[in-house]
Amino acid sequence: MIYLKHGMKLSMPNKELIKKKFSKSLATYEKNAIVQIYMADLLLQELVHFLDCRVGQSPPRNDIKNKNSKSHVIARHHALHDVEAIQEKKYYFDKILEIGCGAGLLTKQILKDFNFSEFFVNDMSEDSLNYVKSFQIFTPHPASSHLLPQGAKGQLKLRCGDCENIKLPTDLDLVISNATFQWVEDFPSLLNKIHSSLKSQGILAFTTFGEQNFHQIKTITGKSLNYYNQKKIENMLSKSFKIIYSNSEIINVEFDSAYEILKHLKLCGVNALEQTKWTKKDLNDFEGKYNNFITSNGKLPLTYQPMYFIAQKL
Ligand SMILES: C[S@@+](CC[C@H](N)C(=O)[O-])C[C@H]1O[C@@H](n2cnc3c(N)ncnc32)[C@H](O)[C@@H]1O
Repeated sequence: MIYLKHGMKLSMPNKELIKKKFSKSLATYEKNAIVQIYMADLLLQELVHFLDCRVGQSPPRNDIKNKNSKSHVIARHHALHDVEAIQEKKYYFDKILEIGCGAGLLTKQILKDFNFSEFFVNDMSEDSLNYVKSFQIFTPHPASSHLLPQGAKGQLKLRCGDCENIKLPTDLDLVISNATFQWVEDFPSLLNKIHSSLKSQGILAFTTFGEQNFHQIKTITGKSLNYYNQKKIENMLSKSFKIIYSNSEIINVEFDSAYEILKHLKLCGVNALEQTKWTKKDLNDFEGKYNNFITSNGKLPLTYQPMYFIAQKL
């Protein structure tokens, strides 16, 4: 734990606790993690847009970098299944690595929308990988299986372990991750490691959260992850990547009570900052303090600040 002035505590991630909390939330995650689902959709839409631009099918957007969207719309990403596009290998990556697959929200979309020779799926929780494995959808799209390089089967390879410590596969074409990097201990070192594992011109596409994320919880409990802001991440990236897309937005999800907020955090597994059991008094204090954030329509907001980045190895 790092103590800052005014008693604010920045928690170093407790990896065993993260594993435990996310493993516990696997069955409830998809129903409750509405913001994370939205983030995965938006990231893939932007990645597809980049791939379309790369083959000259779609004009580049001039607002693509630093667009500060305030959109609160939770929209579903449209599955591509564009056979022609697959045949052009527009959505083909030889080697993909997903870091922190969790309940496999993004994994499912990648399997649907992209084609690959090898897809490495990582999480430090073995339960997550077993959960993802149980989808049994790891076959290449029938329209495109004949396009895979000879001998390649579009294989899915599970890689269990802490992405900060395990050896990452090499010569990757795409490293992708949704709502995971805020949990790592040393993000700049992880970026260097990812950079080394990518091919020249390989793509890193990820989402994480910014400093405004869960600010209500931070104000009440004094506890927070060590979030970076958009500019800081852009600065880190720009040392060895060309930034293709960078965006940040604020999404307020409204609840009827502070208890509902705590339940939401638990069902999404994002209550991994501390192990302590709450007493009835703790709960009452939390509820009392959360009422300071009540909106004019009598709801309690929980602020998410998703950030999105797509970058290409220089
Ligand atoms: C919020 S979940 C995100 C899950 C998924 N990517 C999604 O789109 O919803 C974060 C996941 O990252 C995993 N994770 C956290 N730190 C990790 C690390 N250092 N290495 C590998 N996985 C990690 C957790 O176990 C958890 O499954």
